[in-house]
Amino acid sequence: MPTIPFSPPRIDDRTVNAVAEALRSGWITTGPRTKEFERRLAAYCGVERVIALNSWTNACELVLRWYGIGPGDEVIVPAYTYCATANIVMHVGARPVLVDVLDDFTIDPDAVRRALTPRTKCIIPVDIGGLPARVPELMRLAEECSPLFTPAVNLRVAGTNPQMRLGRVLVLSDAAHSFGARIDGRSVGAQADITGFSFHAVKNLTTAEGGALAFNLPAPFDAEELYRHFNTMSLHGQSKDALAKTQPGAWRYDVAFPGWKCNMTDLQAAIGLVELERYDSDTQPRRKAICDRYDSAFAEDDRFITPTFRDERRTSSHHLYMLRVRGATEAQRDAIITAIARRDVSVNVHFIPLPLLTFYKGLGYRMSDHPRSFELYSREISLPVYYDLTDDQVNTVVAAVKDAVAEVLG
Ligand SMILES: Cc1ncc(COP(=O)(O)O)c(C=O)c1O
Repeated sequence: MPTIPFSPPRIDDRTVNAVAEALRSGWITTGPRTKEFERRLAAYCGVERVIALNSWTNACELVLRWYGIGPGDEVIVPAYTYCATANIVMHVGARPVLVDVLDDFTIDPDAVRRALTPRTKCIIPVDIGGLPARVPELMRLAEECSPLFTPAVNLRVAGTNPQMRLGRVLVLSDAAHSFGARIDGRSVGAQADITGFSFHAVKNLTTAEGGALAFNLPAPFDAEELYRHFNTMSLHGQSKDALAKTQPGAWRYDVAFPGWKCNMTDLQAAIGLVELERYDSDTQPRRKAICDRYDSAFAEDDRFITPTFRDERRTSSHHLYMLRVRGATEAQRDAIITAIARRDVSVNVHFIPLPLLTFYKGLGYRMSDHPRSFELYSREISLPVYYDLTDDQVNTVVAAVKDAVAEVLG
């Protein structure tokens, strides 16, 4: 029996032809396909402007830089997330302040409230597995706590001071998992100040590697101006991109500041355009059907705790099926995964909480400060969810998991 992989991308003739067409078009870096992808992403998210870049990591690091976050500043992130969420805070020299999560794996707004200090510049909630964090609640909290906010006075970005302008902590949503998820009936992207998506190879919507930012800042911020500024930030601070410079006689450019280099290529956007076109018609329904099938196998079996995919306000993008084995210790969970692997099924754990990772442990973060994160992690097993996974394969995964649990826990 061939191994069931964890999360292969859906690559078919349409994807291959779209990339081949881009290759043959004579324009392979950022160009018309990227611009079209951005327009369609913005329409999908219901925001004025989206910029497509080369990863969530670089896109969101630009946001922290744009907001002038640096040494002495604090950014609140959940202890339960992928390292990228906290690493970008380290990259700009600020301090990640870790807080615990709720039973649905998303950041606990009460814990965020307790962690806010005059040094807090940003909150990064994470839509883990595709279930949106309580972003509207966090936006309200950011507003309510604005008297505590202490903006940097000497900050100057594109002629203004964004911290003074906003007058409160920035809410940057880590929606790496949740493209297409909804809060109050609206797509993720239209709730936080800025939302970062990932289009990495394993994500629901992929461009091989890639990411995007949806801008939703209140007036007087202008989405078009923000787009232009982030575009410049992503291209070394250069006043013109490669496409603009190819126009006859338009060679001259300037550099206003030493920017970064994290633009998306048209080859990536070609994949993204195909993915986006069939996202609601194919990708989402299939992922949901797989998760529903897992639910019907595990929800009635009290050895398991099934993940939350919806409540009165939120609907998940069904990115991960984060199953929990009730009462299992970390060592038992690990043994169950080994037993599942012997049955030729690939599963995963999302994620090892930050305080358990060598680097963050070395900085003094302690797992005991975030008991819920540890409890969730120690029992978690992510099951395969992807477009090409057949119903028969889902049944094979279910049987492998149940047999493995019986083998380890008796
Ligand atoms: C929760 C979370 N945030 C951020 C990222 C980083 O995304 P990227 O690989 O596009 O930089 C990931 C990637 O897996 C992730 O899972």
